[in-house]
Amino acid sequence: MTRGDFLGFGVLGAIFGAIVTIPPVAFVLSPVIKTDALGQSDVPDDWFEVGPISEIPEGEPKNFVVEFPVNQIYSEEEIINNPEAVKTEGEVIPNAVWVSWKTEILEGGKLGKTQRPAFVGEGGSLSQEQIQEVTASLNVMSSSCAHLGCPVRWLVREGEGLFLCPCHGGLYGINGEYQGGPPPRGLYNYTFEVRENGMIYVKHEFDIEPGLNKQQPYVV
Ligand code: FES
Repeated sequence: MTRGDFLGFGVLGAIFGAIVTIPPVAFVLSPVIKTDALGQSDVPDDWFEVGPISEIPEGEPKNFVVEFPVNQIYSEEEIINNPEAVKTEGEVIPNAVWVSWKTEILEGGKLGKTQRPAFVGEGGSLSQEQIQEVTASLNVMSSSCAHLGCPVRWLVREGEGLFLCPCHGGLYGINGEYQGGPPPRGLYNYTFEVRENGMIYVKHEFDIEPGLNKQQPYVV
């Protein structure tokens, strides 16, 4: 065999190997590619009701549960070809959503003044100005710890309120800000809006920091 033949067989072998291996690898990794590289989600890009702003107290967060419908995106082809066969139809992922009024943190970690507007709880529909004021005053946060996703709990101790993660001791303030422990950042915030009826709505979408740390919440 000449050197040219040898190289030719080598190139052909590499091409054949790529043809045989790339499609199955792409198939296996497609959920990761779709979610991480293309930013697609299993949850429809809709707004989902959380609850009324009148139920959120001052000085402590309120927990709501939102049930997001889910269709796993790797069954997309199956959905198109045979909608009857969608196994995930009707399934939901319940998310615990913590909502609090933005609160000043005093020295020593004590909770100060909250930004709860005086008109909240008066009833009636909200004007556009009121909606803007409420929107700027709310924290709408995921309960999944930014470390490895355990659900955080609200804990009050000697006038000092904190979200505590029971798994490895991550700590966050009432505004979701990082206070201590292994998490690399504060709690994730949902994309949310407040409507005239005084209700909060969220999308299954989070504030992902730009740059290298594009980590999504682990448990959603
Ligand atoms: S999962 Fe919350 S601190 Fe580790």
